[in-house]
Amino acid sequence: MKITSYQQNLLSDTERLTAFYEVIREKSKGVIYDLGTGSGVLGSWAAPLSRRVYAVEKDPVTAKIARKNLSKFKNVSLMVNNAKTISFPEKADVIICEMMDTALIDEDQVPVLNSVRKYLKKDGNIIPCGVFNGVEALDVNIAHPCYHEGKSPQHRLMSELIIYDKINFKEHINPEIDYSITVPINNNGTVSGIKLTTFTLLTPNFICGPTPMLNPPLLVPTNQLNVEKGDEIILKLNYSMGGGLDTLRASIKTFS
Ligand SMILES: C[S@@+](CC[C@H](N)C(=O)[O-])C[C@H]1O[C@@H](n2cnc3c(N)ncnc32)[C@H](O)[C@@H]1O
Repeated sequence: MKITSYQQNLLSDTERLTAFYEVIREKSKGVIYDLGTGSGVLGSWAAPLSRRVYAVEKDPVTAKIARKNLSKFKNVSLMVNNAKTISFPEKADVIICEMMDTALIDEDQVPVLNSVRKYLKKDGNIIPCGVFNGVEALDVNIAHPCYHEGKSPQHRLMSELIIYDKINFKEHINPEIDYSITVPINNNGTVSGIKLTTFTLLTPNFICGPTPMLNPPLLVPTNQLNVEKGDEIILKLNYSMGGGLDTLRASIKTFS
């Protein structure tokens, strides 16, 4: 069966895979949910170490690939369904959920976890267990949000990285982000955009990424401001986690 190029890219990202492999091998036991199983790769690592794996995939074409890859494990139940609305016959010791996207905006990680968390045993684990989101001011010439791949699009950093959000997946997450963030400027010139960077916590002590397929930095245009080193600007940042990039708004003003 032909694997999709998206799933192939996910499987080619060795830094992402190695991080998940390490943690799944360490934490797997009992009942596991693998939400957004894709090719089934993460569930296949959990299966030999657990009693039962519930692998959930909403895309029927991708689910066919998972079915083939997971068929040799007699303890895996594949559910072709939306993990936002599905119910499970037993509680989980571990929830693996890799529906990640930068700042958790463009994929279902947050709505899925908000819906499924009630099935996690009290002492259970979620892999990954959370994210830190950071922002930097940029001089960049872009018209729309775009991911930073290789050296493109070119940009100049105008501030230090500021961590503006720390999200723990075991707690309820408000998907609506509405922040005013003070950003100290460390260069003379123009600010015309921001860079959002997401650091993934596989466990509280194991941070991974960004990698090419795990939350690559997202560049977002803003209005334009002339700035000097030592200035502070206020970034107004709005988006809905799981709502898609259309919900993303970023604007800046001088500190007054
Ligand atoms: C980033 S891929 C990860 C695939 C695989 N777990 C891996 O790590 O290589 C996310 C997968 O989740 C699936 N997915 C996205 N939203 C979903 C949802 N609400 N319910 C079930 N599956 C979903 C996508 O179709 C995709 O296959």
